[in-house]
Amino acid sequence: MKASRSRLDKPMAKVVQQYTASIAYDRRLAPYDIQGSIAHARMLAKQGIISPAEGTRIVEGLEAIGKEIAAGKFTYREELEDIHINIEGRLKELIGDVAGKLHTARSRNDQVALDARLFVKDAIAQTIGRLYKLQVAVVGQAEKNKKTILPGYTHLQRGQPVLLAHHLLAYLEMLQRDAGRFIDCLKRTDVMPLGSGALAGSPYPLDRDFVAKELGFSKVSANSMDAVSDRDFIIEYESAASIAMMHLSRLAEELILWSSAEFSFVELDDAYTTGSSIMPQKKNPDIAELARGKTGRVYGHLVAALTLMKGLPLTYNRDLQEDKEGLFDTVDTLNATLDVLAEAIATATFNAKRMRQAASTGHLLATDIADYLVRKGVPFREAHGIVGKLVQKAIAKGQDVSELSLADYQRHSKKFGPDVKKITIESSVAARAVVGGTAPASVAKALAEAKRALRGE
Ligand code: ARG
Repeated sequence: MKASRSRLDKPMAKVVQQYTASIAYDRRLAPYDIQGSIAHARMLAKQGIISPAEGTRIVEGLEAIGKEIAAGKFTYREELEDIHINIEGRLKELIGDVAGKLHTARSRNDQVALDARLFVKDAIAQTIGRLYKLQVAVVGQAEKNKKTILPGYTHLQRGQPVLLAHHLLAYLEMLQRDAGRFIDCLKRTDVMPLGSGALAGSPYPLDRDFVAKELGFSKVSANSMDAVSDRDFIIEYESAASIAMMHLSRLAEELILWSSAEFSFVELDDAYTTGSSIMPQKKNPDIAELARGKTGRVYGHLVAALTLMKGLPLTYNRDLQEDKEGLFDTVDTLNATLDVLAEAIATATFNAKRMRQAASTGHLLATDIADYLVRKGVPFREAHGIVGKLVQKAIAKGQDVSELSLADYQRHSKKFGPDVKKITIESSVAARAVVGGTAPASVAKALAEAKRALRGE
């Protein structure tokens, strides 16, 4: 079987065949293509467009091909261009000319749109499952580190003390929004395009709802021209993937920084690190670096897809074939990154002592000391100025601002009483008891809420 050259007198030039073939990568759509074709054949038979016997032969043939593909026994042929023609070609070998009836009331344009939608629906389910696993790992570590205090940073300068659990739960929030974006994307992917034909719809008495039901779609597309040329569900997956990778890259960046001797806040399990070919002492966080690095290629696929679409007139254009490799790579990259980070986080050891030590230098209580003055009636801006001077003095003495004597404090403001010395890292953390704050009580609530959400409650 040759790919549809009815009006063409010459065989395709070799260079054109090589240039246009997509079988090298769109073979990945095979299971979806077979599933879609089976549903289509059943519907054709049900509607009397083909006979029940023809329907049965086609379905059995397709099932046999499905088994060949699953067993790795299928021969993919470049001269048959893409996965759709490859499968139809094999069907003809298996069941003869009746195979030619499968493509009744169908075009590769609605067929490939269907396959891509089935693929993305599956991908979304897999990605959400993996996001969930990473969330479980993050919550597990937050649970273990409810008491661990570290410096919170702005500008990568020590700012105010926070609980490690609070820091980790920030990532949980990001991952939850990521999952929400994929769930949202599913709504618009879950639309069945078959029946759109090449572009204008079909003159046959199709039962599109039947096909949708067979394939687990909740609705059918409303406009045939849109249905064969729209790929925004792919762009939406890639956008959600890009945002998720951006979050994973930030997490990765912190793992890298925190693994350095300069921080020493975290130690990845040996099984999740790599060595060096020359420096025997090395224990490198390569997985986190690769997660950070791979983020770029996922963004690249998003930009490629947006650019691919931006100049396309209605309806199908062959450019659309270029949507697939980027999509496949996006799914693989995101899912693999989620997998490896989930395990790395779950097995990592956080260095509570080191974190506590880091929190006790860097004048982390300066804001709390200013707030103390505010409670004594000093306007905040004035308090800020007073404590700034105290910090300067502490620096000159080689001390932390919290180590200055009460006399030192009082030299800058008479409002200071002995109780100012009661301000500690623990009291600073505990004071931030607003909803969303780092106080142990607030974090305990957030953690309980997170666990409930993960249990699906
Ligand atoms: N391989 C093609 C693609 O990915 C399938 C659709 C081909 N349709 C066509 N009219 N040439 O888009």
